[in-house]
Amino acid sequence: MFRTSNCGDLTISNVGEIVTLAGWVSRIRDKGFVLWIDLRDRYGITQIIFDEKRSSIEFMDKVRKIHREYVIQIKGKVIERESKNPDIKTGDIEILASSLDILNESITPPFTIENNTDGGEELRMKYRYLDIRRPVIQKNLLMRSNLSLEIRKFLVSKQFVEVETPYLIKSTPEGARDFIVPSRMNKGDFYALPQSPQTFKQLLMVSGMDKYFQIVKCFRDEDLRSDRQPEFTQIDCEMSFVSEDDVLNEFEELIKFIIKKFKGTELNSFTRMTYSEAIEKYGSDKPDIRYGMEFGNLTKVARGKNFKIFDSQEVVLGLSVPNGANFSRKQIDSLIEFSKSHEEGANGIVWVKYNKDKTFKSSVDKFFNTKDLSIWAKILVCKPGDLMLVISGQKTEVYKQLSLLRLELANRLNLKNNKEFAPLWITDFPLFNWNEEKNGFDSVHHPFTAPKDEDLELLDKNPNLVKSKAYDLVLNGNEIGGGSIRIHNGNIQRKVFKILGLSEKESNDQFGFLINSFKYGAPPHGGIAIGFDRLVAILNGNESIRDFIAFPKNNQGKDIMLNSPSSISKEQLEELGLKINKPYNK
Ligand code: AMO
Repeated sequence: MFRTSNCGDLTISNVGEIVTLAGWVSRIRDKGFVLWIDLRDRYGITQIIFDEKRSSIEFMDKVRKIHREYVIQIKGKVIERESKNPDIKTGDIEILASSLDILNESITPPFTIENNTDGGEELRMKYRYLDIRRPVIQKNLLMRSNLSLEIRKFLVSKQFVEVETPYLIKSTPEGARDFIVPSRMNKGDFYALPQSPQTFKQLLMVSGMDKYFQIVKCFRDEDLRSDRQPEFTQIDCEMSFVSEDDVLNEFEELIKFIIKKFKGTELNSFTRMTYSEAIEKYGSDKPDIRYGMEFGNLTKVARGKNFKIFDSQEVVLGLSVPNGANFSRKQIDSLIEFSKSHEEGANGIVWVKYNKDKTFKSSVDKFFNTKDLSIWAKILVCKPGDLMLVISGQKTEVYKQLSLLRLELANRLNLKNNKEFAPLWITDFPLFNWNEEKNGFDSVHHPFTAPKDEDLELLDKNPNLVKSKAYDLVLNGNEIGGGSIRIHNGNIQRKVFKILGLSEKESNDQFGFLINSFKYGAPPHGGIAIGFDRLVAILNGNESIRDFIAFPKNNQGKDIMLNSPSSISKEQLEELGLKINKPYNK
């Protein structure tokens, strides 16, 4: 037997027992006559004491050969510690070692294997197996495992059935770029890895599976950010005979269940907000509603007062910063600098301090009197002691600029409470948006999303105005899920493909299987996919998903531990019928 207990097990109630433990040497403290080792495994840390007075010289010589990260097995007696550590479960005891086996040696690791490590991200990624030895990462992976188990239990209790769908599928031009896999048996042809199992889950509804789910890998060749990986995991679901409300209610229950289970927080009904309301209030379709600072529209009241900048612009929007009236000039200038520094940056910001004594001090005192500014304060819900920040310009740009400013203010003023969970549903997205480059329409969600019934006629007349039965789930300012009620009628589906610029032939080539399936009695259906990596990260108060994925890629899409992607041999290329021009063919 390698061990009788693990390193997180033993407490004061075990004093006197003879135990065997195995694990990694986390820390060594050598006081000459006594030597302590912190022995680590997945379950915790147990202190081992080697005492010269109670051991032979040979034994102590062997002990002194041990270094950090050696894998050892020790046998000894559980004794009460002299100086206790209340921070860990095993902190009241230590093991007085009587035998030691070195199971394996270790060279010095490239960074310290502790929660507060000195290793930079690249180094940690290169030696990810060592990084995962750190308790903090193990905790994340454990939480991920527990979360997926609880989600499975919940969904199964609601009669969802897990069905696996293929990873080698067909490339389609919609959405992000596909990862492509060449076929050896069909030279010159390619599979694509799925960006999501969207069409399969719809086919499963045509098959009568009624309620499907899958915790599934998806692959997207897109630019990476802290909340985006080229391969990531979705909790993918689909249901038959449902309306938007049915899907929203079912998954609201799931999220409430998870947050109660893992965070002990009981959530109220989720806020529901239409897409246009979200843009009006927050300039974003994934607003963080943990803090206020909603936008107000000053266009009508701010124009016509001889302030040329406002008079010549499409919109004048503002927000009120709580307790901002005491901002220094430097603080305000730095916010203006921030706003200008962005790619779609603002030209400037007008600021108005609404002082505690109800006087105003602003950068536009010459143009706007107290009466004018009181009206602004009313619109922006600005109280004495607050600061109004106002941006003018072209509509879509100003919404973006003010939204970025709002996020920056929340960061600078520490308004994001990690312990708070503020979910909301965004509904009524437009079905299409205009793509200038392509000079045509794109789907806002995906081409299988159903238009609102009342907007069906607009499909022919004015696709721009068609609203969809799509919804997003937003948690603390992050899009954690998205879905829709689908089109289940071949004619409407064809019409949507046509609006998206696909010819009859192209839509048949790419999606004929789906349109055909609709001829055989497709039920009304809809669903959702929740970003599993994002959900785990946000539940842990983190917006970056990398530390919640065992083996993630870096921002260039590389696995620097495997050195992947990498070139393949000439023979492999030939076998696949591929030719790669130099210099790529190393
Ligand atoms: P969508 O594209 O919105 O919908 O994806 C669903 C959710 O998946 C997460 N997500 C990602 N997470 C990490 N890295 C990525 N690169 C990444 N891309 C997306 C997000 C997102 O909300 N088939 C539809 C769902 C449906 O209609 O049912 C779909 O894939 O949290």
